[in-house]
Amino acid sequence: MRLDKFLCEMNIGTRSQVKILLKQGKVSHNGRVVTSGDLKINELKDTICFQGTPIQYQKYEYYMMNKPAGVVSATTDKREKTVLDLLKPEDKKKDIFPVGRLDKDTEGFLLLSNDGALAHRLLSPKKHVDKAYLVKLATEISEEDIQLLEKGVNIGEEKLTLPAKVIRQGSQSIILTIQEGKFHQVKRMMEAVHNRVIYLKRISFGSLSLDERLCPGEYRALTQEEVTILNETQNVR
Ligand code: URA
Repeated sequence: MRLDKFLCEMNIGTRSQVKILLKQGKVSHNGRVVTSGDLKINELKDTICFQGTPIQYQKYEYYMMNKPAGVVSATTDKREKTVLDLLKPEDKKKDIFPVGRLDKDTEGFLLLSNDGALAHRLLSPKKHVDKAYLVKLATEISEEDIQLLEKGVNIGEEKLTLPAKVIRQGSQSIILTIQEGKFHQVKRMMEAVHNRVIYLKRISFGSLSLDERLCPGEYRALTQEEVTILNETQNVR
């Protein structure tokens, strides 16, 4: 890969900024200052430093967003604002897409990435990845209803839903953990027990919990450790 491309991809600057930084002698390649961006580098093996600090090569981007209500989990939409519209221009450039979907009125943890293989693994029904939701309901939920949700309910599909985990939060709120991701699944599960969702927020995805410091609409890059956790995420049944 060309050195200037590498520096741009690692968010050191735009193409023109990178050119200036190189001319200023701020970049080194295996210990030697380089001023020209067309140098071919091995991004996996070479040591590239910016102002003396090594730049860790990261092929893919991973962001945790606290999705606000009112935006759609799509890359483009003719009418609606999308989650990608919430990204800063410098974070938007590399084929980022939302990994899975949350309804327009749902808030909470949405992973955004350009790592197609990871997305495929996380979304595969066979992998049984846990997704936990805070669910606020229109009416009280009984212990019997909780037991039904834990066993599996009929949402009009061929089979009952897989057993879910339920933690009561209050008379009209629960934390529901499911391993499937059918269309409107949580809302349909609540309808199956004659209730209705009035507020829905995803609070975790796989082994990662939503960073509560993120206000709705905010996002941050995953740490290296979180990316590793995500890569190891799957429940085998
Ligand atoms: N289940 C739903 O009904 N909606 C969501 O956005 C996510 C899960």
